[in-house]
Amino acid sequence: MSEVSLLKQLARSLMTGQLIAASDPHRQQWHLAPAVGLLNDPNGFIQANGRYHLFYQWNPLACRHGAKWWGHWSSADLVHWQHEPVALLPTEDYEISGCYSGSAVQNNGKITLIYTGNVKYTDGSRTANQCLAEEMPDGTFRKLGPVIPLPEGYTGHVRDPKVWKHDGFWYMVLAAQSPDIKGKILFYRSEDLQQWHLLGEIAGTYLNGLKEFGYMWECPDLFPLDGQDVLLCCPQGLAAEKYRYLNLYQCGYFVGQLDYQQAKFPHGEFHELDLGFEFYAPQTTETADGRRLMFGWLGMPDENELAQPTIKYGWVDCMSSPRELSLRNGKLYQQPVKELQQLRQSDGFRWQGSAQDAPELAAVSAEIMVEVSQPFTLTLRDEASMSWDGECLMLTRRNWRTGEQESRYWFGSLTSLQLLLDSSSLEVFINGGEACMTARYFPSPEKRTLQFHGTGTVSIHHWLLSACMIE
Ligand code: FRU
Repeated sequence: MSEVSLLKQLARSLMTGQLIAASDPHRQQWHLAPAVGLLNDPNGFIQANGRYHLFYQWNPLACRHGAKWWGHWSSADLVHWQHEPVALLPTEDYEISGCYSGSAVQNNGKITLIYTGNVKYTDGSRTANQCLAEEMPDGTFRKLGPVIPLPEGYTGHVRDPKVWKHDGFWYMVLAAQSPDIKGKILFYRSEDLQQWHLLGEIAGTYLNGLKEFGYMWECPDLFPLDGQDVLLCCPQGLAAEKYRYLNLYQCGYFVGQLDYQQAKFPHGEFHELDLGFEFYAPQTTETADGRRLMFGWLGMPDENELAQPTIKYGWVDCMSSPRELSLRNGKLYQQPVKELQQLRQSDGFRWQGSAQDAPELAAVSAEIMVEVSQPFTLTLRDEASMSWDGECLMLTRRNWRTGEQESRYWFGSLTSLQLLLDSSSLEVFINGGEACMTARYFPSPEKRTLQFHGTGTVSIHHWLLSACMIE
């Protein structure tokens, strides 16, 4: 479809939908969410000339997946965001089924996007082109076309380029699927972002000591952190175990050492990045002050997603809060970025005593730090709970599609929890970020508080968080 027709449809979608979406009681107060329609992966996360830019997979025309666009927000502080002109619309033959996920770099002073042009055929097959687009002075993007056609020896499932610069060369990791339907990560090099050389497969099923490990690894990201290299990826097709891999698709990381010369990435074990329910397709960037920050999508496709109650209001899914990463003893730690503290409305409320005597606390848009040493339970708006029995921290919620209770688990020695709560999401940071558990949930709007239970002592610090709308 032509750009003009798509933009006319976008206008109608926003004119009819925006007020309805804003009136949803489950509308997020301070997480980034689509004005209308469906949002999925964070794309092109970068800090350029003092501003953060975050692009996102977007279907502004319906609450379902389909021919994706790239929406675009920018911010000086990761808290106050503004809408930017829509960056990419699927108008060209080489991207007609969607401008799929990708990344951003700064090249010759311009933000340059590298994304997947996805093409689906009527017989169910598909192909993919890795494409470029560059920033124009008015904040729109000009497409430069495909630079990598479908590589030989792979199926049509090749996507999600993540590009960075190292020692004067551009490098890319790219998700691909071999003809025997196994997930692989390809590694490329370029001098100019135009001509790319495939150096080889650096990770995937049957590589680096892995056996069967899924049929597709979506959204790779590879970056140095605290002296090592970390590969984030989203393997699809891992069998669920009793306490692990409980979501339909996984999202996790490997720690290793990238050898640029040999194009090898020997790595350790796979760890899940978030032990909750909805956290997928994360992407990182390095900030001017040397921090490695990450956004993830608080969604999970193909299962419960399209039964979310927000669809009645014409929007679905949102971003995670921005998280800062660090590596300690081979483990990836995640913490909410310090900028989020601006949302705290005051110095907060402190309380210490036996859990069962703790006051009920506001939980719609709030942050809470809890120090614990003994078993306790926390119920959240009668829709979710966290309980600690001395060995296992269990997050339970009501599945909004089936109505059944379902749980996720973390094992270890618990000392502290930090919860970031919004109208329909909870993000839990365990022991200063040693592990995370994230979930969407849709409590009745009149249920607004959390309660503690148990006889052990808890020490609490609670803040109300301000709403922060995109401007
Ligand atoms: C991950 C993903 C990517 C793809 C995009 C399409 O959620 O499937 O692999 O590029 O979403 O929207």
